[in-house]
Amino acid sequence: MSCGREDSRRWRRALNRALGLHTFDDKLIARLERAARVAVLTGAGISAESGLPTFRGPGGWWRNQRAEDLATPEAFERNPHLVWEWYQHRREQVAQHRPNAGHAALAELAGHVQQFTLITQCVDRYHQQAGAREVIELHGNLIESRCLQCGVPAEGATEVWRAGLPYCGCGGLRRPAVVWFGEELPAAALRRAFRAAEECTLFFAIGTSALVYPAAQLPHVARAAGAAVVEINPERTPLTPQAQWFLQGPAGEILPALLVALAGAAS
Ligand code: OAD
Repeated sequence: MSCGREDSRRWRRALNRALGLHTFDDKLIARLERAARVAVLTGAGISAESGLPTFRGPGGWWRNQRAEDLATPEAFERNPHLVWEWYQHRREQVAQHRPNAGHAALAELAGHVQQFTLITQCVDRYHQQAGAREVIELHGNLIESRCLQCGVPAEGATEVWRAGLPYCGCGGLRRPAVVWFGEELPAAALRRAFRAAEECTLFFAIGTSALVYPAAQLPHVARAAGAAVVEINPERTPLTPQAQWFLQGPAGEILPALLVALAGAAS
């Protein structure tokens, strides 16, 4: 008995269903299979299954605390101890948890696409830990700090702490190497991110509430330039009505299932 491509797809769908995996629109898989340029934007939701809190979800940081007290230059000026205490706590959380299957699947997906650009609002460096290369960090990272006086960056391990604050060799106070509300995003990262959005044929928005600009603009830029937008999120967001495919569920389940479906289509 011969087994055609359509049969094989049908069997694979049945198998995925039996295994409790997600099934996907064949058109999405075909589009992904032939996409030469894919851009991905991730937000805090990609690390939720690792055990890190998001910002606006249940138990999210901004549910119990005000961004104005912790994530603005003014907050740091007013109370650097409080701000550093929060960032040190977040650094510890990141060190205690690991990247999840969603991060791993994205690192693997990169190998299937000619030009793959991973843009993140996450500051945990889990994408890189999971093997992703050339990640565009729009909001900086938690791992490093920057001297307010000379600007030199340093990794947490090399910081010298005195009376609850980290200092640079030049004597200047260090701040977390993240982007705070009211600050400009790193210009080169932003330029690369917008270029990738303009040039891709498929754009994935994963685990982001799509509320914080300019990152939230990226899927709209991609769509306006002719790309199809795929959203992966357990909840609907303001982006959902604009997405060609809304894959509702946790990224740590959907992304590996997407890889399985992609491999199935190629076999
Ligand atoms: P948010 O906390 O605003 O949104 C997280 C999104 O992830 C929500 O839409 C959730 O529904 C979704 N989510 C939760 N669990 C998920 C899962 N397992 N898989 C997929 N999605 C899941 O986080 P961001 O959109 O990243 O900025 O927030 C953007 C920026 O606002 C952050 O970078 C941060 C924050 O304030 C700064 O600190 C400057």
